[in-house]
Amino acid sequence: MQQLLAYLEANRERTLAELKEFISIPSVSSQSDHADDMRRCAEWISAHLKAIGLEHVQVMETAGHPLVYADWLGAPEAPTVLLYGHYDVQPVDPVELWSSPPFEATIREGNIYGRGAVDDKGQVFAHFKAFEAYLKNTGKLPLNVKVLVEGEEEIGSEHLDAFVKEHADLLKADLVLISDSDMFARGVPSVCYGLRGLAYMEVEVTGPNGDLHSGSFGGSVHNPIQALAEMIASLHDRNGRITIPGFYKDVLALSKTERSSFRKLPWKDRKYAASLGLKELYGEKGFTTLERLWARPTLECNGIWGGYTGQGAKTVLPSKAYAKISMRLVPNQRSASIARLFEKHMKKIAPKTVSVKVRALHGGEPALTPIESPGVRAAVVALEKGFGKKPLYQREGGSIPIVVQFKEILGIDTVLLGFGLADGNAHAPNEFIVLENFFGGIRTTLHFYNELPGIWAKDRRKH
Ligand code: BES
Ligand code: MN
Ligand code: MN
Repeated sequence: MQQLLAYLEANRERTLAELKEFISIPSVSSQSDHADDMRRCAEWISAHLKAIGLEHVQVMETAGHPLVYADWLGAPEAPTVLLYGHYDVQPVDPVELWSSPPFEATIREGNIYGRGAVDDKGQVFAHFKAFEAYLKNTGKLPLNVKVLVEGEEEIGSEHLDAFVKEHADLLKADLVLISDSDMFARGVPSVCYGLRGLAYMEVEVTGPNGDLHSGSFGGSVHNPIQALAEMIASLHDRNGRITIPGFYKDVLALSKTERSSFRKLPWKDRKYAASLGLKELYGEKGFTTLERLWARPTLECNGIWGGYTGQGAKTVLPSKAYAKISMRLVPNQRSASIARLFEKHMKKIAPKTVSVKVRALHGGEPALTPIESPGVRAAVVALEKGFGKKPLYQREGGSIPIVVQFKEILGIDTVLLGFGLADGNAHAPNEFIVLENFFGGIRTTLHFYNELPGIWAKDRRKH
């Protein structure tokens, strides 16, 4: 270990230069003019994994963006870890709000800024550097690894399901490891054992059969933007609860133990509100902020449009109005049935003055992973060694839909070992990863791979 840690130290500058190169490839999965960059990024990862000594490295095709597979299977007695991550990133707009160009990673104030710095290039790359340290110094890894880096996570992992089903043998492993989430706070490492799911909907409301002069027609026609706004406003009641009938039916109640463990976490609503520039927080009555973020379902309007939004004024009574609405889900809600309830409800509350169409864009299931598993125990030891501090246990409000698919298709649990920060601007301008989290992340993964085989074997003997 001492030798490996010294190797990491000695190679800090080169490691940063490589991460910058990785970030410089604009792998925006949602924009078709970046299709070539997607492939270039997959090729870059593949070349890198070959160079550090992984085997069977290949760029594999899907019906969408390619993904990268690699493995190292030279430890027959030891468990096999499937490392999953994504190389695709979110769009950069509004680009004028970035302090440095999004695809030119820049170090300022101890952070690395750039699109993908934390979500998820920097976090995946930390694992690559741990593999490199082992392979260059000892010629082997302490266990078997399979690496799967996909290019469609940010657009709902549309083709990954089919890929996992088709390649179930290739991907067979004892546990999944993902670094694509956050630590509890700066300098406070944590293991994450829960993610929310997602049901993402689009609503189209049509009023009159064409745009109308608002003077000639205003007063006789229900404006579809108004109708849609009224519908959206009615989706929450005065207690911040969602009004869709049956919405909460499958929600797993928080246990007393879990509520009290959340309460013990270092958290101040006032500080949190201030950090967001808010005087007051909002949410479902009867629950704390962390409970609402991690273990309660929510409904958000992501965007609403229609009519005239260009320069100056235009007196129009538009024909159509649209909204994108997403719901974060918790165990044991299922995205398909929530999508159905949403559609039924929107049609029911639509006034007779308009017609409404509802479309489901994508979904993902919520996940909870067992915290007594050997994988989580290894993560706890590794985080303590990597960051010099005992980690906390937490859940997350975000979603990684493939976690449940790994469980349902491959039958394996996921360990979430995140090095991001909730205020790290993921999906926003000036995304960053804290340098110390990046290097702490490399040390932690190094320890994780070292600790897991022993903890795994002990667990085997017990059962
Ligand atoms: N890395 C995030 C998920 C995440 C964020 C987990 C914060 C834990 C904490 C991931 O890249 C992401 O953005 N997921 C999407 C999923 C969606 C596109 C299906 C999300 O949560 O919105
Ligand atoms: Mn991510
Ligand atoms: Mn993301």
